[in-house]
Amino acid sequence: MRSKLSLEQLNALSPAEFHKLFENVVESWSEAAIFCSAMAPFKSFDSMITIFENYLQRLSSENKLRILRLHPDLAGKLLDTHQLTEESSYEQTCAGLDKLSANDKDRLTKLNEKYKEKFGFPFVVCVREASKFEAILKGITERINNSPDMELEIGINEVKKICRLRILQLVNNL
Ligand code: GUN
Repeated sequence: MRSKLSLEQLNALSPAEFHKLFENVVESWSEAAIFCSAMAPFKSFDSMITIFENYLQRLSSENKLRILRLHPDLAGKLLDTHQLTEESSYEQTCAGLDKLSANDKDRLTKLNEKYKEKFGFPFVVCVREASKFEAILKGITERINNSPDMELEIGINEVKKICRLRILQLVNNL
C-alpha cells in the first residue's frame, strides 16, 4: 500500500499528480478530481472532502445519473471475473461479497436486477458503512420502493460517502 499523504504533500501535488491519485474517488469519473484540483490549496482534508461533496451535489440530474450508472453491481459479474476497479474490489471484498453462499448471491442478484429494471441504474450503497450482508439486503429491499427522484439523491449521497472514505484511504488524517 502506498504511504498516506500529509496535508502539506497534498497541497504540493501538481495538477496531473492530483488527477491521477484521486481519479477514482468517484467511481470511474475523473472529472471530479479535475474540478476539485483547481480549488487547491486546501485548508484541511475535511475542506477538500466538502469540495468533492459539493461538486457532486451541484451536478445536473443527467450527470448524477451517469455517475450512478458507472457503478458496478454489488456481487456482480465484474467481481466474479476480477474486473472491478481497485477501489470497488477492496470495498466489496471487505464486505464479504466475494464469499457469499450461492443462495445469498442469488437473493442479491435478483434484487439488483429488479432495482435496475425500476430505476435504470444499479443499487449503490456505501458498503463499508452497511457492511453486513443482511444490512445491504435490507437497504435494497426498502429503497426499491422509493421514487426515481428520491433514489437519484439517495444514490448520490451514497457516492459522497464512498468518495469520503476513498479519500481518507489516501491521506493521513490523524
Ligand atoms: N458501494 C461501494 N462500492 C460500490 C460499488 O462499486 N458498486 C456499488 N453498486 N455500490 C458500491
